[in-house]
Amino acid sequence: MANIQKLIRKVKYKLFGNPYYKRELYQGVNLPSFRENQGLSENQDYLQSAIDQLQAIQEHKAFEDTLSFLDFGCGQGRIANGIKYLKLPFHSYTGVDTHELSINWCKKWISIYGPAYKFLHLPAYNERYNKQAEKLQKLPFEDNSFDMIFLNSVFSHMITEDIQFYLDEFSRLMKTGGLLYITGFVEENVPEMVENPTDYISENHGALFRVRYEKSFFLKQFTDRGFTIKDFDHQGITRTKQSVVMAIKS
Ligand SMILES: C[S@@+](CC[C@H](N)C(=O)[O-])C[C@H]1O[C@@H](n2cnc3c(N)ncnc32)[C@H](O)[C@@H]1O
Repeated sequence: MANIQKLIRKVKYKLFGNPYYKRELYQGVNLPSFRENQGLSENQDYLQSAIDQLQAIQEHKAFEDTLSFLDFGCGQGRIANGIKYLKLPFHSYTGVDTHELSINWCKKWISIYGPAYKFLHLPAYNERYNKQAEKLQKLPFEDNSFDMIFLNSVFSHMITEDIQFYLDEFSRLMKTGGLLYITGFVEENVPEMVENPTDYISENHGALFRVRYEKSFFLKQFTDRGFTIKDFDHQGITRTKQSVVMAIKS
């Protein structure tokens, strides 16, 4: 059965091309035809989700010509498209992800916006996204490289050991005064960390589908590593019910 499905897919790709590598030109930006994030299948919703997050960021730190932006777990470059669409000033945007197909798509369709858009495949073990790589890989960037580090829906798929490792890395990579923006499932009066809690938001779909943290435990991970919490917006991303933490490197 699996072989027949593979064969059908092969014939389809031969006739119509592999949808994974295609794009839709929408409002002057390239959006992925095949979306890893199926909840954002409408082009306007997809673009608007990035615009909303970028506007919330700008209330805390302005984009400017000198700004170096790291998008950790960038997926198919959703936020890079928002930056391009809004014509925000910046010096460099670096998107990294453990999922090679997503990075390949970004290299094909977003890198063409210009040399300031860089993408890097960084294999790292994640039970949901990449089981072939080593765990807890140090990031290949110099200390104090970035003014802004952005993670949307990445810590929501990581256990405590991982988020502690990456927050140590972000503390190393972030310049003093830099802004960290992270979303996650964060609630009060719950255990410190639970993978796929039952009766929370909706049915669970596989490993690390939804990792939920207790609020004071989660925020302590930031303050323990030299970040000052600037804003906590409970379930601020209404679509996914993830909360938003914005923190400054002191
Ligand atoms: C739900 S998607 C979000 C994608 C993107 N941030 C967005 O907002 O559209 C989570 C992404 O995190 C990436 N990811 C998970 N663990 C990672 C790790 N250790 N290193 C790099 N990327 C990781 C996944 O491959 C996936 O692309």
